Amino acid sequence: MTLFAKFATLKQGFGQLNALGNNPFALTFDDVLSPTEAILKGRRVLLLGTNNYLGLTYDPECVRKATEALQKHGTGTTGSRIANGSYSDHSRLEAALADFYGRRSCMVFSTGYQANLGMLSTLVGKGDHLLVDADSHASIYDACNLGRAEVLRFRHNDADDLDKRLRRLADQPGDRLIVVEGIYSMLGDTAALREIVESEIDALRALYAGRL
Ligand SMILES: Cc1ncc(COP(=O)(O)O)c(C=O)c1O
Repeated sequence: MTLFAKFATLKQGFGQLNALGNNPFALTFDDVLSPTEAILKGRRVLLLGTNNYLGLTYDPECVRKATEALQKHGTGTTGSRIANGSYSDHSRLEAALADFYGRRSCMVFSTGYQANLGMLSTLVGKGDHLLVDADSHASIYDACNLGRAEVLRFRHNDADDLDKRLRRLADQPGDRLIVVEGIYSMLGDTAALREIVESEIDALRALYAGRL
């Protein structure tokens, strides 16, 4: 099958969507007015899908500081930190965030996608085990594919199912990393963190007893 033939079905579906005049991939605003409002085909509409949770994109202080940074440093860093070093403002931001959260240090990523990719693919690798809530965000699944750890899905917010899977790993070497989210993006519910931690603490103690 050629590369183009592979996409024939997708193309057909996309054509049908376009014919309805409701192609979600072609949504272009005439203007975006605020964190929550825009103009779309001449109509004022509410923005309910953005993750501009704190509305900081229009906060006057943020706009002023971002403008100052642009004037001083230009429109981009033009290279990665690892290759070129860090801007002192980025390091100060990380120190301030670490201080706010009461942590020794922190690392800022510019998107959630990159944070998940960066952290998950680094923390575990070949021979380790990732236990992932089945309803995790797509970026977590991408991150799992990038690392080389074994990926095991447990039922959404189900501490017993997680427990069962952890116990099955009892004889296997390698680290285990449990991945849950603060708020599940598609469901809107929160992680059952208390239940998961309480139920896992004994299982993890037993698993690591010989290794700590
Ligand atoms: C739980 C969760 N993780 C990761 C992401 C990806 O974040 P970003 O869109 O900043 O890449 C999102 C985005 O909605 C999310 O809801």
